[in-house]
Amino acid sequence: MEAAVLRTACLRLVANLAEILAVGEALERALALLQAGDVVAIPTETVYGLAGDATNGVAVARIFEAKGRPRFNPLIAHVADRAMADRIAGFDPLSAKLAEAFWPGPLTLVLPQRADNGIHPLVTAGLDTIALRMPRGFGGELIARLGRPLAAPSANSSGRISGTTAQAVAADLGDRIKLVVDGGATPVGLESTILKVENGKLRLLRPGGIGAEEIEAVAGAKLLRGAGGIEAPGMLASHYAPGAAMRLNIQRIGSGEALLAFGPKRAEGWQDAVAMRNLSEAGDLREAAANLFAYMQALDRVGAATIAVEPIPFEGLGEAINDRLARAAAPRDNTA
Ligand code: TXA
Ligand code: MG
Repeated sequence: MEAAVLRTACLRLVANLAEILAVGEALERALALLQAGDVVAIPTETVYGLAGDATNGVAVARIFEAKGRPRFNPLIAHVADRAMADRIAGFDPLSAKLAEAFWPGPLTLVLPQRADNGIHPLVTAGLDTIALRMPRGFGGELIARLGRPLAAPSANSSGRISGTTAQAVAADLGDRIKLVVDGGATPVGLESTILKVENGKLRLLRPGGIGAEEIEAVAGAKLLRGAGGIEAPGMLASHYAPGAAMRLNIQRIGSGEALLAFGPKRAEGWQDAVAMRNLSEAGDLREAAANLFAYMQALDRVGAATIAVEPIPFEGLGEAINDRLARAAAPRDNTA
């Protein structure tokens, strides 16, 4: 055995850290843990999820416990296919059209729950609606094998940045969970877009991995924004908090600041940044979304008191990127 491998194995034993298994070899172990009511961190196309059987109250309680998340925050239930979704919730025609267009993928639909759908009430925090999503790849396969939906919030401690690599997840939650399934860096890099149909109108509850324009093109109507009848207590102002303070839309960098850049043109004084990451040299918002959380974490690790962020346009995935940055910059709320 190589020294590095041996060292990791020893560390895991001593510190009781999570095992990291590649997607190709993790399915049976993940299944066994989930069947036993335990939680597993899994890759999805958006971010890593901390998954547990959505019909098992103990498993769901373990998710909250591992994240240190306030109980009033409802979770997304992940399904393998439309048939599973239909057993859990009722679809109006517009929601059905969106599911048809975007599933599997980074779209979550909030829908009225069916009676006796087996979902544990802790998943929905007692609401009569439920957030459903059909993920791509390993998650879908795992859910199909389990035959039951998985509740899965992003795999990070409450109030911290969502994990987009198995290593980031293990560093954050590794002493509290047994298994992290490694599927590499998540391709989208931002959580799913959350939508809800209200009286035939479509409301954006959380901007995310699918841009508003793309959704509007399928729906044939404009999205409503803002709180409305929103029950998304997860939208606490400070939610994606790095340790450093964040300063957004900067034109000039201050002394001692780290720089989160975007595009080919630099803010004034950029040479003085204590560290820099560029979300996308080419100014590509999709690339920027995929890099966002990992780069915020990387700059945070440098230890600068403030991360200064260059302006990012609001179109397409820019809306979700700006939303996450605003939350990261918001005054810290230690209940989040
Ligand atoms: O991409 C994603 O969506 C990731 C991956 C793992 O699937 N999951 C994720 O879950 O971001 P979480 O728990 O971090 O965020 C779920 C969001 C919260 O803002 C929550 O308040 C909202 O969904 N939510 C859940 N159920 C809801 C409901 N019935 N009505 C309105 N909002 C709801
Ligand atoms: Mg989250």
